[in-house]
Amino acid sequence: MRISVIGCGYLGAVHAACMAKLGHEVVGIDVDERKIAELAAARAPFFEPGLEELLREVQETGRLSFSTDMGAAEGSAVHFICVGTPQKKGENAADLTYVDAALMGLLPYISPGDVVVGKSTVPVGTATRLAEIVKEARPEAHLLWNPEFLREGHAVSDTLSPDRLVYGVAGGVEEHHGVQVLDRVYATPLEKGIPRLVADLPTAELVKTAANSFLATKISFINAMAELCDAAGADVTLLADAIGMDDRIGRKFLNAGIGFGGGCLPKDIRAFMARAGELGADQALTFLREVDAINMRRRTRVVELTRELCGGSLLGQRITVLGAAFKPQSDDVRDSPALSIAAQLQLQGAVVTVTDPEALGNAARRFPELHYEEATSTALKGADVLLLLTEWQDYRDLDPYETGTLVASQKILDGRNILDPSKWRAAGWTYRGLGRP
Ligand code: UGA
Repeated sequence: MRISVIGCGYLGAVHAACMAKLGHEVVGIDVDERKIAELAAARAPFFEPGLEELLREVQETGRLSFSTDMGAAEGSAVHFICVGTPQKKGENAADLTYVDAALMGLLPYISPGDVVVGKSTVPVGTATRLAEIVKEARPEAHLLWNPEFLREGHAVSDTLSPDRLVYGVAGGVEEHHGVQVLDRVYATPLEKGIPRLVADLPTAELVKTAANSFLATKISFINAMAELCDAAGADVTLLADAIGMDDRIGRKFLNAGIGFGGGCLPKDIRAFMARAGELGADQALTFLREVDAINMRRRTRVVELTRELCGGSLLGQRITVLGAAFKPQSDDVRDSPALSIAAQLQLQGAVVTVTDPEALGNAARRFPELHYEEATSTALKGADVLLLLTEWQDYRDLDPYETGTLVASQKILDGRNILDPSKWRAAGWTYRGLGRP
C-alpha cells in the first residue's frame, strides 16, 4: 500500500520505517528540514536501538522516502498523523496545534476513499472533532484513530510486534471501510496473531490515556511504598518482588526510584486530568493529581538525600550525575527526572557534572548551565558524591573498587535501586538507595 506518515519524531520516524519493513511504499513528511535530511540519508535523528539499521535496510528497497513537502502525501491511500501533542505552556492541557496543523495541511492532498489515521496521543473527543473536519472537506474520505503504545528504546519491536492493535472508527463497527484498510496495513502482525480491537473513536483515544495513567499510577504506587519503607526501615525492592509474584499485580513497572519522566507519562496524565475537568468528570481523576505529586516528590527527596550525604550543605560539593536521559536506551531528556535533579543541585550551590552515553547533546541544549563529560571515568574523577539516576548498563556494571579509586569520597546514591548494596558497602562505600535501609 502507499502510505504517508506526517510527523517524523520518535513516533513517526519509527512508524514510517516499520511500515516500509512490512512491505508498504512509504513517504515520511516533516516540516523540520534537518530531520528529513538525516532520515533521507538513512541516519536516525535521535537514538533508538535498531532504527538506523532498519532505515538503511528499507531505504535500499526503495520503499521509503522522506519529504518536507506535504504534497508528497498525495497518492497515498493511508495517511498516518504522528505529530507531537506536548503540554501547553503554563497549563495541564495538551497542545493540539501540531495535530490540527497536520490535518489542515493534509486536507488538499486527500483523495476519495483515503483513510486518515491518527496515532498521536490526544484528549478524548479530538478524533470526533477531526472526523467532522474531514467529512466536511472530503466527504468520501475517513478518519480513524489507531493509538500507539510503543516505548522509547523498544520502539521498533513494539511497532512491528505490538501487544495489541486498537482501531478507533466512528460507531465502532467492524464493517467500516477503514477497518479493512488498516487490516491490510497490518496484515503481517495480524497474521502473527497480534490481537486487534475495533472501538468507537472516544474509546480508542481513552485506551491510550488510560494505559499511560495506569502505568504512571503503578510507578507512583511503588514510590509511595518507598516513602513508607524509608520511614519504617523496610526494603521496597523486596516488597516489590514479593507483591509482584501475585500475577494479578505483576512485577513490571514496580521499580521504585526517582520516578517517571519523558515526553509521555507526565504530560499525558496532566492532559487527562484537564480533559476530565472539561467533561465535568474531574473527580474521577483527582487521584492522578496525587500520582503526579508523589512522582515530583521523588526529585525533591533525592536533592534532600544528597544534601544529607554531603554532610548538610551542597555548597561547593562536587556531584557526578550518572545518566541524563529519562530512561536507558534513549537520548530523550524531555522531563527527565535525572536532569531535573541535576539542575536543582546546581541551583543550590553544588558543582554538578553530568554524564550519559547518548543524551548529552540533548541535555546540554536543555540545561546549558550544567557541566557535561562524555567519558564516565573522567566524570567520576574527584567526585564527592555519585548519583546514579538513569540505569544504563554501563552504570549497572560499574565496579565499586575501581570506581572508588577515581572519586574523592566514596558516597553513592542509587536513584534506581539497581546496585547491590552489600557489594558497594563491602568496597568501602556509603550506599543509599531509595526506600531501602
Ligand atoms: C510510555 C509507555 O510505556 C508506552 O506504552 C507509551 O506508548 C508511551 O509512553 C507513549 O505514550 O508514547 P515511554 O515514555 O517510552 O513509554 O517510557 P516508559 O518505559 O513507560 O518509562 C517512563 C518512565 O517511567 C521512565 O522515566 C522510567 O524510568 C520510569 N519507570 C518505569 C520507573 O520509574 N519505574 C518503573 O518501574 C518503570
